[in-house]
Amino acid sequence: MNLRRKIERKEARICVIGLGYVGLPLAVEFARLGFYVTGLDVDGERVKAISRGQSYIQDVSDTAVAESVEAGCLSATTDYEVLSEMDVIFICVPTPFTKTKTPDLSYVVAAAEGIAQRLKPGQLIILQSTTYPGTTQEDVLPILESSGLVAGKDFYLAFSPERTNPGDRQHTVSNTPKVVGGVTTRCGELARLALQHLMPQVDVVSSPRAAEMTKLLENIYRSVNIALVNELAKLCERMGIDIWEVIEAASTKPFGFMPFYPGPGVGGHCVPVDPYYLFWKAREYDFYPRFIELAAELNQSMPYHVVLRVSEALNAQGKTPHRAKVLVLGVSFKPDVDDPRNSPAQRIIELLLSRGAQVSYNDPHISQFTVGKDVFYREETTLNSIPLTEELLANHDCVVIVAGHSAYDYDWIVSHAPLVIDTMNATKEVKTNRERILRIGAPASLH
Ligand SMILES: NC(=O)c1ccc[n+]([C@@H]2O[C@H](COP(=O)([O-])OP(=O)(O)OC[C@H]3O[C@@H](n4cnc5c(N)ncnc54)[C@H](O)[C@@H]3O)[C@@H](O)[C@H]2O)c1
Repeated sequence: MNLRRKIERKEARICVIGLGYVGLPLAVEFARLGFYVTGLDVDGERVKAISRGQSYIQDVSDTAVAESVEAGCLSATTDYEVLSEMDVIFICVPTPFTKTKTPDLSYVVAAAEGIAQRLKPGQLIILQSTTYPGTTQEDVLPILESSGLVAGKDFYLAFSPERTNPGDRQHTVSNTPKVVGGVTTRCGELARLALQHLMPQVDVVSSPRAAEMTKLLENIYRSVNIALVNELAKLCERMGIDIWEVIEAASTKPFGFMPFYPGPGVGGHCVPVDPYYLFWKAREYDFYPRFIELAAELNQSMPYHVVLRVSEALNAQGKTPHRAKVLVLGVSFKPDVDDPRNSPAQRIIELLLSRGAQVSYNDPHISQFTVGKDVFYREETTLNSIPLTEELLANHDCVVIVAGHSAYDYDWIVSHAPLVIDTMNATKEVKTNRERILRIGAPASLH
């Protein structure tokens, strides 16, 4: 049976390489539709968890994994040999950057090499990892064609950007439209057919490069707009204006304005990383996207700004960061998620430690957090989340809200902490003791 028919009849065997925040929900959704799905991951612990019917990703329930495993639709392995039995292969491996912020494609290359060694005629490969325009055709395609098979003729290759939004219960894999670009028209069409089982709308663009650039536009759009409000937040502090009030007022405009909010800096695997993938590639074209770079730089400056404000606030109380006891609330990269990757809390804690502060943290979603071993703080330090109590709050010179989880009771926190630096207006509803709060983007005297 040809691939099209197999996909249409849900008889295509699906493999998802990389069972993380992106890969696991994808694998589970296909399995729930009745496809036979194999998850392939180098992490043996993750594979064992899936085999036991357990999820390790916050947005995927144990029940969803267990039901699919019990129904025989979902299995997981570390063995690349399974690839030879597959019809559709998704690549969902990490695309981080190096210490000097250049793209690290090593995971994508490893996955592509693993596929190339076992590539069979008729297979469809869909890359979903976020990356710079050109990766699918310039990096992945030559590896796959080293097998002797030709894309568009013997096998099919496409790129489809991922739009997972961790912690978002409204927008899920099954109701978020997707974009796909194939190496040939047939590649794009087959990929659309496969993805259309999952979501109501799949738009095919002219090439993988267009699809890769689409993802970067989506994330850089956020980076640039967040940078704009971060810059205005700093200006507002100097001018004695409350940026949060201004954004709320501007949001009453029913057209041409979408609110973005300042904060402690951007985190996660997308917004802080993706602009650097684009700069790196753009240089090959003698092009330097200065506007985008400036936005990334502004966002990156926010942890330094937070630490400056902590120092100023301590100073106003006759204290210094040196030896001050600072409690950080929330170390995930955004509220209500368990993902600490590239979290602004990391740099904030490193900068505080390097200034001699005694730092501890609480996060209901993250029990351990490792910082340091870099130019900001040489010593690698693993901190454990400590239980939040009245005594703990009272015993710290300063509490810094970095990820404003909804589980926190902000009235209670402010009533027991002597000083609160709020980086994201999490305390907006707090009515009493507001003189103890210093919000990023608002003047110190305004409460
Ligand atoms: N997390 C998100 O919300 C999100 C959103 C959009 C795009 N993305 C992009 O999707 C990609 C994956 O991100 P993620 O958050 O799911 O990453 P993740 O770290 O949560 O998961 C990646 C998985 O890949 C596995 N892996 C690494 N190398 C492998 C290999 N050679 N073979 C098999 N498995 C391998 C890891 O063990 C891990 O389980 C990245 O490019 C990321 O930028 C992520």
